[in-house]
Amino acid sequence: MYKIAVIPGDGTGPEVIREGLKVLEAAGNKFNFKYETKIFDFGGERYLKTGKTLEDKDIEELRKYSAIFLGAIGHPEVKPGILETGVLLKLRFSLDQYINLRPVKLYNSLYCPLKDKKPEDIDFVVVRENSEGLYKGMGEFKDKGTKDETAIQISYNTRKGVERCIRYAFEYTRKRDKRKKLTLCGKTNVLTYAWDLWERTFYEVAKEYPDITTDYAHVDATTMWFVKNPEWFDVIVTDNMFGDIITDLGAMIQGGMGIAAGGNINPQGVSMFEPIGGSAPKYTGQNVINPLAAICAAGMMLEALGEVKAAKAIEDAVIKLVNTKLKSLAAGKMGCSTSEIGDLIVKSL
Ligand code: IPM
Ligand code: MN
Repeated sequence: MYKIAVIPGDGTGPEVIREGLKVLEAAGNKFNFKYETKIFDFGGERYLKTGKTLEDKDIEELRKYSAIFLGAIGHPEVKPGILETGVLLKLRFSLDQYINLRPVKLYNSLYCPLKDKKPEDIDFVVVRENSEGLYKGMGEFKDKGTKDETAIQISYNTRKGVERCIRYAFEYTRKRDKRKKLTLCGKTNVLTYAWDLWERTFYEVAKEYPDITTDYAHVDATTMWFVKNPEWFDVIVTDNMFGDIITDLGAMIQGGMGIAAGGNINPQGVSMFEPIGGSAPKYTGQNVINPLAAICAAGMMLEALGEVKAAKAIEDAVIKLVNTKLKSLAAGKMGCSTSEIGDLIVKSL
């Protein structure tokens, strides 16, 4: 019996989570696994009412679950930064979800903004470090508010943190068993402390994986190749900030935020799965948002829980749907409503 903590969150989060849960239920029936869910109201509304984001006792409660299924966090009436650090990043950091796993897979060339790229050309996975780097929040102001002000933001990288991420990426590349190629995406030519550590660790760990081909690309060049030659990539490992940036571009070449899912993974603890797009407040309550990213996130969650057949069946149903019924993957243009998409996936399952 799995215990799933559900955080629908803000904006269109609850609408896409509803479809994700529909699909989960159908998958449970078909593949015979049992689970219970509990809904948590963390997010913007709760913050506006109570002034609370996420407390230590909430984290302790969440530790008891098999996984977390998250919609979206972000509210137009809450100052940027509060919910991001107080809810989303707090979850990632306190549950030590040190990997952010973001598959970039094109299911139908119609949805790709790149000319002449087919599904077989865009099929790679970004392993983003999810607990350190610039996201650590280290830094300071000097002479704040004066004309001599300095703002320092530190990229914090530990050997242990870097190594566990790189190791995960090598293991993942081996297990994925596609092209067995792992690319380190960094900036060794300028960020000479952080990327020196990353590069040394990468090539040291690589010695233990002679079956994996290694490669290195600077982050700026990586963005160029995402557009020009995405077929070069199999698995990419990178730090938190670069991973954040390149996966938005990745989402666009796979068809947009409507389809992009990710997992915040703690291989030894509680992982959290989410559509990588935001709360899209302008579409809230209209039944027009694309729930496929949330449905794919539910699939990733099942895969992580060991329900591999169910995960595969969900992906197959998504592939079928985007190659038959859908006009577009963008909100309001899909030719189907949010709830119809959930229903179609359920039917196909
Ligand atoms: C993401 C988001 C978050 C991040 C924000 C909302 C804090 O952009 O999941 O990629 O920067 O990690
Ligand atoms: Mn992001």
